[in-house]
Amino acid sequence: MKVPFYGHVRQYHNLKADIDKAIVDVLESGKYTMGPAMQAFEKEAAAYMGMKHCIGLNSGTDALWLTFIALGIGKGDEVITTSNTFFATAEAIWLVGATPVFVDCEADTRNIDVTKIEEKITSKTKAIIPVHLYGQPANMPEIAKIAKKHNLLVVEDCAQAFGSKGDTFKVGELSDAVATSFITAKNLGTFGDGGAVFTNRDDIIEPILKMRNHGSNKRSHHSVGWNSRLDDIHAAILSVKIKHIDEFNDLRIKWAKLYDKELAGTKIKLPYGKPGYRHIYHLYVIETEGRDELQKFLDEKGITALTNYPIAIHEQEGFPFGPEQGWPYAGGDPKPVLPETEKNSAHCLTLPIYPELTEEEVKYVAAAVLEWEKGPGAKYFK
Ligand SMILES: Cc1ncc(COP(=O)(O)O)c(C=O)c1O
Repeated sequence: MKVPFYGHVRQYHNLKADIDKAIVDVLESGKYTMGPAMQAFEKEAAAYMGMKHCIGLNSGTDALWLTFIALGIGKGDEVITTSNTFFATAEAIWLVGATPVFVDCEADTRNIDVTKIEEKITSKTKAIIPVHLYGQPANMPEIAKIAKKHNLLVVEDCAQAFGSKGDTFKVGELSDAVATSFITAKNLGTFGDGGAVFTNRDDIIEPILKMRNHGSNKRSHHSVGWNSRLDDIHAAILSVKIKHIDEFNDLRIKWAKLYDKELAGTKIKLPYGKPGYRHIYHLYVIETEGRDELQKFLDEKGITALTNYPIAIHEQEGFPFGPEQGWPYAGGDPKPVLPETEKNSAHCLTLPIYPELTEEEVKYVAAAVLEWEKGPGAKYFK
């Protein structure tokens, strides 16, 4: 049996009639940029999130970057975030000239460890950027409390958690803004690139609108901006998909619970969903010694498993390290101490999870994991 990592094509086939119609409608309308399809999606998405504003952009990276600019985060500022995330979270901080300061992740959820944030706050700290990793919100009430005490901004990176919820809070209600991505791989994804900012703050709308359209949202250019518009074709596809997002997330949860059940009793570490949280399992990440061997074993059985994230950001070679960039991790010394993050990098393995999986496939993947644990992997569990 072959179990691919992604279900995009299956999802397209399931929604083909509606998606094809939505695309053709945009093509026939002649309005492809900042047209009615983009505006309609922004309205639908804001309503879904229960937030005042949604600004459609061309990626999650731009959503972070433009929000930081609008909030006045820039040169000389320190921004607290996690190293256990996709590169873009820290990239956007660096792009505005600020310095990412990394806090370790929790041993269970793998989200930012809120008990370690305050020790990293200095007079230069301007903001906290939690990432709702793998589909589960970070501990926003605690983050909001720390931010209030130290007068810091908070931007939620929700690229992996559209439609998730905390136990007592909704995504977006305890921060200045939420940035998200609609790239194909996301649980709400178009067939290509897309992103958005959600906020209840009226004062940051205008700067983001200007930035996304060359410094202007009217006819003249008030400032130097950028081009970061959500194309109408992508907006139209997202309008079709957002109507199904709760159902898609329910199916992800269903497959995660089935993995949990099939893998019960394993010594491999399974994902942790906090009680009362709606973890939507954008990714189902297990952790084990011998991760690379297990990945190869699964591959030989036709199962594609990937790693999120095998190199944490503070260990990435491509990042512009060095004191001249105002980076605290100067050429590896002093290196941030992030033992949980590094443990996760060494051990994480993401099993296929998407709404279009079948029960047979989930059971096949789980059986293969257990076969490895009891067979070639047994040496790691003595
Ligand atoms: C946590 C996180 N932040 C930011 C991004 C960047 O989004 P995009 O690829 O749309 O720029 C991604 C995903 O790609 C992500 O997973």
